[in-house]
Amino acid sequence: MEKEVLSKPYLLSSDDLTIEDVNLIFDRVKYFEYHYSLGATFNDLNGYTVALAFFEPSTRTRISFEIAAKRLGGNTILFSSATSSLTKGESLLDTLHTIEAMDVQIFVVRHSGCGVPLFLQRNTNKIVINAGDGKHEHPTQALLDSYTILKHFGYINGLKVCIVGDVLHSRVARSNIILLKKLGAQIAFSGPGTLIPRHFSIWNVNFFRTIDEAIDWADVIMLLRLQNERMDSGLVPSLSEFSRLYGLTVERISRKPELVVLHPGPVNYGIELQYEAPSFPNVLIQTQVTHGVFVRMALLSLLVKTYESRAK
Ligand code: CP
Repeated sequence: MEKEVLSKPYLLSSDDLTIEDVNLIFDRVKYFEYHYSLGATFNDLNGYTVALAFFEPSTRTRISFEIAAKRLGGNTILFSSATSSLTKGESLLDTLHTIEAMDVQIFVVRHSGCGVPLFLQRNTNKIVINAGDGKHEHPTQALLDSYTILKHFGYINGLKVCIVGDVLHSRVARSNIILLKKLGAQIAFSGPGTLIPRHFSIWNVNFFRTIDEAIDWADVIMLLRLQNERMDSGLVPSLSEFSRLYGLTVERISRKPELVVLHPGPVNYGIELQYEAPSFPNVLIQTQVTHGVFVRMALLSLLVKTYESRAK
């Protein structure tokens, strides 16, 4: 019988996923894309409630998890720390157990603290999904990025992916490095030395001083915004200097039209990407967003199956 469960009933890091898990998720993504396009409805999350616990701002991840859960017949509740009893001194753990007591089975957690989703997962027998923890990881973003690359090229093994910009503060970069390397891609970084992890060579990645060298090498450029909310000041001399050396312009894309351009969003147009660039067919930023819903549907569906198989 075909394997229908993941190796773990939670997702905290790209490291939690085996290649078999990723293939299973991508097969399920294709299933949902196809059947949704035919007008099918789904009941994979019937009887389940998903807590969207976002302690940091989000547009794409929060809304796509909400749409994904609802398309699968699940309920969602939105937990906002600013209007919760955390402001009255209740601990994170008490908050978790309080929501659990209302028969919530799935926690999608975004937090500025690295390791918060892991801490919660260790203190519950419910499903926990990391929706971005500090500068640590954002594994569902890596899944949707890999799926977008796979769908465009038909394969990932051997492709050259260069991550450009603020790699140091990026949870998207960390999750992508782990996942894309697992799937056989070659990875490189490009960015100012102050925004590249000091010991990056342990990841066995290439490094390019300018985006022009990166474009010459890469099949895929993954742009990152400057994550000022996680940065000490003064890590780039000026925005215009950063943009001149690492910004993707129409002129640069025109030199290599087959180059695929990804960005997890939100984009700071005029800094890492020129305003007019999204009109190029291989700039797949909107496609990434669309894939994000189907990837999260697939993940939720498979995590519930995995959770139920362990409860038997
Ligand atoms: N890519 C991403 O995590 O975007 P949001 O912060 O809008 O969720």
